[in-house]
Amino acid sequence: MSMENRYPSIPYLAERARRRAPFFAWEYLASGTGHEALLKRNRDAMNAVEMVPRILKGRFSLDLSTELFGRRYSVPFGAGPVGLSGLMWPRTEIFLAETAARKNMPYALSTTANESPEVIGPLAAGNGWFQLYTPVDPEIRADLLKRAADSGFTVLVVTVDVPVGSRRERQLVAGVSVPPKFTPATLFRAAIRPTWSLATLRHGIPKFRTLETYFPTKSFAGAARLVGQVVDGRPDWEMLRQLRDMWKGPMVLKGVLSTEDAHLAVEAGVDGIVVSNHGGRQFDAAPPTIEVLPEIVAAVGGKLRILFDSGIESGLDIMRALHLGADFCLLGRGFLYGTAALGARGGDHVYDILRADLETNMIQYGAASIADLRRSD
Ligand SMILES: Cc1cc2nc3c(=O)[nH]c(=O)nc-3n(C[C@H](O)[C@H](O)[C@H](O)COP(=O)(O)O)c2cc1C
Repeated sequence: MSMENRYPSIPYLAERARRRAPFFAWEYLASGTGHEALLKRNRDAMNAVEMVPRILKGRFSLDLSTELFGRRYSVPFGAGPVGLSGLMWPRTEIFLAETAARKNMPYALSTTANESPEVIGPLAAGNGWFQLYTPVDPEIRADLLKRAADSGFTVLVVTVDVPVGSRRERQLVAGVSVPPKFTPATLFRAAIRPTWSLATLRHGIPKFRTLETYFPTKSFAGAARLVGQVVDGRPDWEMLRQLRDMWKGPMVLKGVLSTEDAHLAVEAGVDGIVVSNHGGRQFDAAPPTIEVLPEIVAAVGGKLRILFDSGIESGLDIMRALHLGADFCLLGRGFLYGTAALGARGGDHVYDILRADLETNMIQYGAASIADLRRSD
């Protein structure tokens, strides 16, 4: 059976990922926070977006290519930053950087990923973006930006919607920790996922390879706490302006949900924003991103590029966001479900099924290009 027949959409990949990755890794990836109401509302609000198709358009050829920050990508979507990607499946960052290069799609490497910018930048071949959680120490801040630029990352994504670690009750119960605590429960959970365990043994226990050189002690125990000492979850607009001065390329502010903040982002001189609720992982009372997107587009569209994430599970979802005014979409979990389910082949497969779904639905809707998807009011 072909891969498309076995895993035709992201929910199928998620189901396989759930069976292949250990419980703690799955819980880390899939969970939201609180009652997880926002996870559901992201989905429900997306489903509620209707688009009226046009008929009798005859034969036309499709153009999915999209220009963003001076580069032409093959599609209007990319893989967003995911911390600890290597915990879900070893070498995930490498796989996604290779997919980005092969498919001409962006991939954003997280500050808290398990591979370093030096390894990932060259593999992504110009399609790498670097996601920053702002370091407390200005020297580390400068060093990290320099490492990202020297490694070939073209776009800086500054994430500001994690002022504090969200409680994520499911993760607490599952005992998610970095490095994994070798309790009898975690050992058992790893043992019943032998493919993951063998791959992890081969590649090594996941480490914070980008940040570990800045850790105040060389002890790896309690690395998550050490990360907390290096990065400052609570930057302010002044810090953003400083970063703006330091980073020469395009800069994107990730985690915007209000029009007021979108206006401030324009004033701060960023090139783009990501309308994001962090995939429902931070604040369960936040609105679904697809609901606030139109008002943000009305407020600042044309002044900067508007990227969108949280809850995208198909090409049709990407179409909906573009219809409501987004310029580009990112997926967090979607690509990780792919690599956890299929390893090295996962990134390409997610790209292929999203692209196929986008193409099918564009023809159905009667749109030949990304510009045609835009709602005309
Ligand atoms: C497991 C996991 C880890 C994440 N880590 C980061 C991170 O390190 N930096 C960041 O900016 N966003 C992070 N995010 C948020 C994603 O970039 C993105 O905003 C979110 O996943 C989008 O929702 P989706 O998963 O429904 O596509 C993470 C998301 C998940 C699921």
